[in-house]
Amino acid sequence: MMSMYDAQYTELRDLMSKFSDTEVAPLAHQIDHDALIPKALINKLYENGFMGSYIPEEFGGAGMDYTSYAIIIEELSRGCASTGVLVSAHTSLCMWPILNYGTTEQKTKFLPGLASGGTIGCFCLSEPNAGSDSGGLTTFAEDRGDHFEISGVKNWITNGRDAGIAIVMAKTTKTTDHKGVTAFIVETNSPGFKVQKVEEKLGIKGSSTAQIWLDKVKVPKDQVIGVVGQGFKVALSTLDGGRIGIASQAVGIAEAAFRYAKKYSKERIQFGKPIAELQAVQFMLADMSTKIAAARLLVMHASHLKDNGLPYSKEAAQAKLFASESCMSITTKAIQVLGGNGYSKEYPCERHFRDAKITEIYEGTSEIQRIVIAANELKGT
Ligand code: CAA
Repeated sequence: MMSMYDAQYTELRDLMSKFSDTEVAPLAHQIDHDALIPKALINKLYENGFMGSYIPEEFGGAGMDYTSYAIIIEELSRGCASTGVLVSAHTSLCMWPILNYGTTEQKTKFLPGLASGGTIGCFCLSEPNAGSDSGGLTTFAEDRGDHFEISGVKNWITNGRDAGIAIVMAKTTKTTDHKGVTAFIVETNSPGFKVQKVEEKLGIKGSSTAQIWLDKVKVPKDQVIGVVGQGFKVALSTLDGGRIGIASQAVGIAEAAFRYAKKYSKERIQFGKPIAELQAVQFMLADMSTKIAAARLLVMHASHLKDNGLPYSKEAAQAKLFASESCMSITTKAIQVLGGNGYSKEYPCERHFRDAKITEIYEGTSEIQRIVIAANELKGT
């Protein structure tokens, strides 16, 4: 069994670290300001294989594993959290269900474009009245013989403005709970698929978050993922992997804030000496460092289980819960170390702080992660 300490992961982290420092981090302030990730950067992500990291080479990917993917997301997010989530939602929420549940025809048709052909992916589960209670979704897919016709509204769709392919969860039977949900692959240029609104947000401003309207969108029957009526399992198992991605993003944001605060504390002179010599600051740095180390280990543990075909739903939820809450506390402390400067847009810590908050919300709030963890702990004997 591979371990997180194997040379291939150390080498990947070094490579990703350089890429992030040179190609991503220098753009982060502008990306936040413009609420846009430059096309040139997205092209580089494709050219380097980061958009299809764990997709097998036969489907246009880089043929890596999930642990490598987690390292890629952490390092990209250290440079720019918006870039990290663009890649994470695209890879783990759009490509993974096709890879895991799709037919060979679906994989051959859709994965190469997504992994290396410049097509961005998104995942449409949430709705205005179905957030944490995702089984309560009301988007409906009417059976029209050789195709389905999907109508409904989807909310908070990461990459929604820019995606060419969307995984859409819709009910094929009218129910009030999760039963009857089916997962579909939808081409976003299909008539009736409309980006209705792009949200203005607190953080991860470069990542597009859209509301999507579907009005009688025709989807061929061979674009159903898995079995009709079994889409809720597709959605929840997809989110299990997605949560590892968001946990990695949280570690990356936290690491960026921590490194900045540490450097600043050695340079900032107060009371005649660098503030790094004050125990009050040292204790904050020690707590930040320890939480990052623990969060990274939880991410690596969940990825390791996934790579080895072992159950990882609970561990993914634990990684996301701990990493996101640590990220919020670390980015808050980083501002505290910088004092007034931490509150200024001239320094990056206020962006880290704004970017951190969403990691406690999307792909399942911290409360949902606790539900998943407790349910796993309490089941069985
Ligand atoms: N994998 C596969 N199947 C699973 C599963 C998993 N991890 N967890 C549960 N299931 C199955 C169950 O076995 C059950 O199957 P049966 O019908 O055969 O019995 C079914 O799913 C329903 O299970 P529950 O009764 O536990 O489901 P529930 O309705 O009580 O909901 C929940 C459980 C944990 C609250 C779930 O709804 C959930 O995770 N909610 C949060 C959703 C979420 O993360 N939303 C974020 C959307 S994505 C996003 O953020 C947008 C973006 O673009 C980034």
